[in-house]
Amino acid sequence: MNALAGTSRNFRLASRLLGLDSKLEKSLLIPFREIKVECTIPKDDGTLVSYVGFRIQHDNARGPMKGGIRYHPEVDPDEVNALAQLMTWKTAVADIPYGGAKGGIGCSPRELSKSELERLTRVFTQKIHDLIGIHTDVPAPDMGTNAQTMAWILDEYSKFHGHSPAVVTGKPIDLGGSLGREAATGRGVVYATEALLAEYWKAVKGLTFVIQGFGNVGSWVARLIHERGGKVIAVSDVTGAVKNPNGIDIPELLKYKEATGSLNGFSGGDSLDPNELLVHECDVLVPCALADVKAKFIIEAANHPTDPEADEILSKKGVIMLPDIYANAGGVTVSYFEWVQNIQGFMWDEDKVNKELKRYMTQAFHNIKTMCQTHQCNLRMGAFTLGVNRVARATLLRGWEA
Ligand SMILES: NC(=O)c1ccc[n+]([C@@H]2O[C@H](COP(=O)([O-])OP(=O)(O)OC[C@H]3O[C@@H](n4cnc5c(N)ncnc54)[C@H](O)[C@@H]3O)[C@@H](O)[C@H]2O)c1
Repeated sequence: MNALAGTSRNFRLASRLLGLDSKLEKSLLIPFREIKVECTIPKDDGTLVSYVGFRIQHDNARGPMKGGIRYHPEVDPDEVNALAQLMTWKTAVADIPYGGAKGGIGCSPRELSKSELERLTRVFTQKIHDLIGIHTDVPAPDMGTNAQTMAWILDEYSKFHGHSPAVVTGKPIDLGGSLGREAATGRGVVYATEALLAEYWKAVKGLTFVIQGFGNVGSWVARLIHERGGKVIAVSDVTGAVKNPNGIDIPELLKYKEATGSLNGFSGGDSLDPNELLVHECDVLVPCALADVKAKFIIEAANHPTDPEADEILSKKGVIMLPDIYANAGGVTVSYFEWVQNIQGFMWDEDKVNKELKRYMTQAFHNIKTMCQTHQCNLRMGAFTLGVNRVARATLLRGWEA
């Protein structure tokens, strides 16, 4: 099942549990606006090349739309649509005053030079500048984009609208980015995990963790779990996987990866077939897409890692799954803090960012649990009913039928 079908299915299940009117259900599902633009740029050799850029603005009932911009050769409008919708529910679950959006350009960023990427980003911004904005739609980095991309968008947008740091988040700190943003998604995943484990009278310390992916999110999760005394017993990325039943020394693995660009050959553990990582015995798996896992808890740090069929099988097996729309909401939550700081023109210290992040993540967990009790459902449906209900309430209060 593709991402759009999977997300829409979860939305519909939540909508039924909430007893939403079928017209409202349909209206909430249809994106507010879909933008598709042609971006033509001269390559460094002078030849012209065209790319297609998208921005799907899903819903703005609760505030400006928010979501990443990805540069990827297979940017598929259906997937962008699903991710935009997920952002609507995610921002509502985290209770930050935003709607949802997502965008991208169908290009291979690794095949473009820095100046070509800059031209492409500027042309894309010129095409959509009057449809995004501080109180309209606030982009952020995603796959294939980074703080530098956001700096170019900010600069290009500001040519039309005046200095507007709050128009994008995930910026470099020197241009108004927030302290703590880089670690925020991983940190949020760990706060979410702690909130979940507390329900079972458990703590990170002493439990075993398997982490799939060792990029921004995975490496921060590993570092913070290790700091709290959790045992990270296996880690994988595209280069391979490493295991150590006594717990991997994560700071050493980070140094090794930094120096060699790979997990292979790390002396603090044995190499492992990355396909076996997901079925490795452990307490907590972060994240997962397979049905025969041996973990007790799965924390969905990645977006949409568990398809609905696997979800059903794992639930029946009694595996507790913390859904993506909550587990990885730390990133967008600190993006919200960045936007608030830009609007206030006042910078917070990192402690304040982390403290507020913990408050939002913990509160969201308790709100999800309340929905689980009210609707007798699992955590995924608890999160979906929480998010969908908030968006539906805002939509009804605004008056949507006129
Ligand atoms: N970065 C954020 O703020 C953020 C926020 C919300 C959600 N997410 C989601 O979290 C996930 C990870 O994002 P990221 O920012 O860490 O990306 P990243 O590109 O920094 O890291 C991805 C990691 O996954 C590894 N990987 C890729 N394919 C793999 C495979 N088949 N098996 C094992 N490892 C594999 C890569 O080697 C890399 O280490 C994505 O699904 C993303 O959408 C990220």
